[in-house]
Amino acid sequence: MYNEKVMQTFANPKHVGYIEDNDGAGKVGNATCGDIMEITIKVKDDVITDAKFRTFGCAAAVATSSVATDMVIGMTVDEALKLTNARVVEYLEGLPPQKIHCSVLAEEAIKAAIEDYRKRQSEKAGK
Ligand code: FES
Repeated sequence: MYNEKVMQTFANPKHVGYIEDNDGAGKVGNATCGDIMEITIKVKDDVITDAKFRTFGCAAAVATSSVATDMVIGMTVDEALKLTNARVVEYLEGLPPQKIHCSVLAEEAIKAAIEDYRKRQSEKAGK
């Protein structure tokens, strides 16, 4: 069902885990299948310096999260907010149509982590 690039990424995913002293954490659920994705990020001067994910999801969720976390490291938070699941799927040279919904998890979890980061920043600023 999956192409070679997806299978290789799934077999050797990058950035699996959880950053304990994270600057932002985002957890989202997939409405279609009920699977869960959590992404944590480290941010310095508005640049994402590290990102890790953990998921209760399928091979497509793991592969797209590996690629998405890899892509956002080094981006500013504004750039990372513009990362789309379509770009991640394109990098992976496509997913089966019934698996496209899985790729949305990483995009949404990154957005949620950045939202959490910004919330914490504004709370700090308010103190
Ligand atoms: Fe749930 Fe892929 S089937 S994330």
